[in-house]
Amino acid sequence: MSINQRAETAPASPNGGEVQLSEQLEALAAQYGNRFLLEPAPDHQLPQHGMRAVDAMRLIGEELVLDGIPMRNLATFVTTWMEPEAQRIIAENLHRNFIDHAEYPQTAEIEQRCIRMLAALFHAPGETTGARTQGSSEAIMLGALSLKWKWRARREQAGKDTTRPNLVFGADVHVVWEKFCRYFDVEPRIIPLQRDKYTIGPEDVEPHLDENTIGVAAVLGTTFTGHADDIRGINDLLVAIKNDRGLDVPLHVDAASGGFVWPFLYPDTEWDFRLEQVRSINTSGHKYGLVYPGIGWLVFRETADLAEDLVFYENYLGKRDATFTLNFSTGSAMVLAQYYNFVRLGHEGYRYTMETMQQNARWLAARIAGIGDFKLVGDEGAEQLPLVAFQLAEERNFDEFDVASQLAAERGWMVPAYTLPPDAEHVTIMRALVKLTLGHTLASTLADDLAQACSTLEQKGGLHPLDRKRAKTGTGY
Ligand SMILES: Cc1ncc(COP(=O)(O)O)c(C=O)c1O
Repeated sequence: MSINQRAETAPASPNGGEVQLSEQLEALAAQYGNRFLLEPAPDHQLPQHGMRAVDAMRLIGEELVLDGIPMRNLATFVTTWMEPEAQRIIAENLHRNFIDHAEYPQTAEIEQRCIRMLAALFHAPGETTGARTQGSSEAIMLGALSLKWKWRARREQAGKDTTRPNLVFGADVHVVWEKFCRYFDVEPRIIPLQRDKYTIGPEDVEPHLDENTIGVAAVLGTTFTGHADDIRGINDLLVAIKNDRGLDVPLHVDAASGGFVWPFLYPDTEWDFRLEQVRSINTSGHKYGLVYPGIGWLVFRETADLAEDLVFYENYLGKRDATFTLNFSTGSAMVLAQYYNFVRLGHEGYRYTMETMQQNARWLAARIAGIGDFKLVGDEGAEQLPLVAFQLAEERNFDEFDVASQLAAERGWMVPAYTLPPDAEHVTIMRALVKLTLGHTLASTLADDLAQACSTLEQKGGLHPLDRKRAKTGTGY
């Protein structure tokens, strides 16, 4: 029996012979191969028949080789490597639904420990509260909802109009802030960037504030360049307005990336609850918290900063339970993995890790600057996430998108090129995240590859539009 006999068999009305042939082929495949190798992967309807577990595993595994290699993805802030022991914790706890607090009380306790540790790291003045979230996006939605609810309660108490809430933030924020405004009916007051200023400060914020402002959002470590808004300056402005005009505008810090970087690299910089108007902070455990995707955190300054009406109490999972989430059932594994990192690394381990990444980022930055084709974005010595943001130093016969595409073509590096938000949309930036998986040797190879990409482009000019399509053009998350 050969496989070709199958192809030779007439496709129409199955007769006894054909059925027999197909059964024999099934038997051969079960013994020597995989049925899926001879068939397209199911992609439209639930297949009528399944396949062996090992075949299903291979079908998926073989298709995924077409994806980029996560460790070469220098666009993402999200963790691409964890220790084998952490992976074991994750693998062994995938069957634990996080929301079943009554059934898994220790997991719930571990979540609370993580929140308490983060609150202490962010200098919360006393006992407080927070939540484990799917990532910073859910944390921001919940934090901003609380701002809206608290603002409305204040306005109702004063007998004032509650129909026109607004939220003030810079164009350097992540898209989730606009998403919140659209989903939850809040006017976004977006401060445009400037030709050569890609973060915001108090002077930018002030003209946008009024009695309908539910809060100001400031970023610690922007997605675009890794720098921070002037959070201290914005806080001081809000304190002054509170004292002078009696207008109490809270500040939320989006520390999606910076929340796990600043406390270790810049411990003396005040951006957190040491500042009076900072009422809530979000951070992504799955970014510099060093956990695989699926975990974020929201921490309030004080328990009272969480609007009580946003908490739902239910008792159908075994005991009366409070939930403050946008979703319900979700995994426990990443909460446990976060706690693993906390106890495994401690303060010293996180500091060492961040310093390692920062040192490699600085070294890579120096190498990139040394190529001669590029200049770095931002002032030398500015507080920044461990990354290198750079752009072509002068007009060439190719641009940053060509460089990104050439790098991808030559070595599979995923280094994005993107334009900044208005009013700095004329500025194109490339950005390489320097995580633990980009050590000295790989960073050195990347710098060599960048130089090579430039000299290739120099000779042949910009890429054909079809090749350019391969360039990674989003900012990466
Ligand atoms: C500043 C900032 N805020 C929010 C987010 C959204 O975070 P997440 O992907 O954890 O939902 C990101 C993601 O890159 C970010 O950089």
